[in-house]
Amino acid sequence: MLIIPPWNLFNIIFYIFYSLTAVVLIYSSSRNLWMLQYSKFSMGTGLPSRTAMIILYTLPIVAATATAWPYLLNASVIQLIVYAAVTLHFAKRVLESLFLHTYSGKMETLSLIFITTIYSIVAGMICYLNAQTIPAMDAWFYIGMLIFFVGETANFYHHKLLADLRKAGDGYHIPRGGFFEYAACPHYFFELVSWLGILFLSRHLFALLALIVFTAYLTERSMKTRKWYQEKFSEFPKERKSIVPFVF
Ligand SMILES: NC(=O)c1ccc[n+]([C@@H]2O[C@H](COP(=O)([O-])OP(=O)(O)OC[C@H]3O[C@@H](n4cnc5c(N)ncnc54)[C@H](OP(=O)(O)O)[C@@H]3O)[C@@H](O)[C@H]2O)c1
Repeated sequence: MLIIPPWNLFNIIFYIFYSLTAVVLIYSSSRNLWMLQYSKFSMGTGLPSRTAMIILYTLPIVAATATAWPYLLNASVIQLIVYAAVTLHFAKRVLESLFLHTYSGKMETLSLIFITTIYSIVAGMICYLNAQTIPAMDAWFYIGMLIFFVGETANFYHHKLLADLRKAGDGYHIPRGGFFEYAACPHYFFELVSWLGILFLSRHLFALLALIVFTAYLTERSMKTRKWYQEKFSEFPKERKSIVPFVF
């Protein structure tokens, strides 16, 4: 069961605007007109990546808490789990940015503003809509909790593998271990698994839209990353896919 919003003027404009923004971002990135500039695709301008990442993952927690506030103190178990899933996802990223990742570059200011806005809208909107939940926990809800846990755990595991590469020396290395043997960006794949879990928990149409946008964006970025590896490392295994191990 998917919870569909009332199609009033605000919702129609909001959904169209959000979808169009995502389409423009992904189109401009795929055509090399403009892409989010950080990590391997940084132009060397902006804030240090660690600072930028802490900002862009903290503000969605603030947005989620602000929109959940009206019902948070008297929340049902379903509401608490949805709110916890969204905030835990971003809190994990804050902690990883602080204590796990070793960043080498900078994040461009416009990219920082753009990502922070998109994440804050997603987190804030899902927690706002969470005022209305499914009537009771069903099988999909329990599956959602399991999927979310698997996604977050595997996402963290692959971040750890990336972080360990930096112990071997500065710069970029060919990732090894886990599903890195089968795809350039398995950490992106498991991020999407987490958002699929959040969709099963929230069940709002907007959570589906967020999942579609993240899937399109991360697929495109993983293809660019795979190409980047192939150009930088002649020994990069040709059979490795972009994002979905064994498949794509
Ligand atoms: N929902 C979304 O749309 C979305 C979008 C993007 C990211 N995310 C989340 O954020 C996570 C990280 O994404 P990201 O794009 O920042 O990942 P990333 O570019 O792969 O970088 C992650 C960390 O690993 C380092 N690293 C990456 N490749 C390396 C290599 N070959 N050798 C050594 N170090 C390497 C990076 O260092 P440098 O900083 O020096 O490159 C950075 O510290 C994702 O897995 C996902 O959970 C979500």
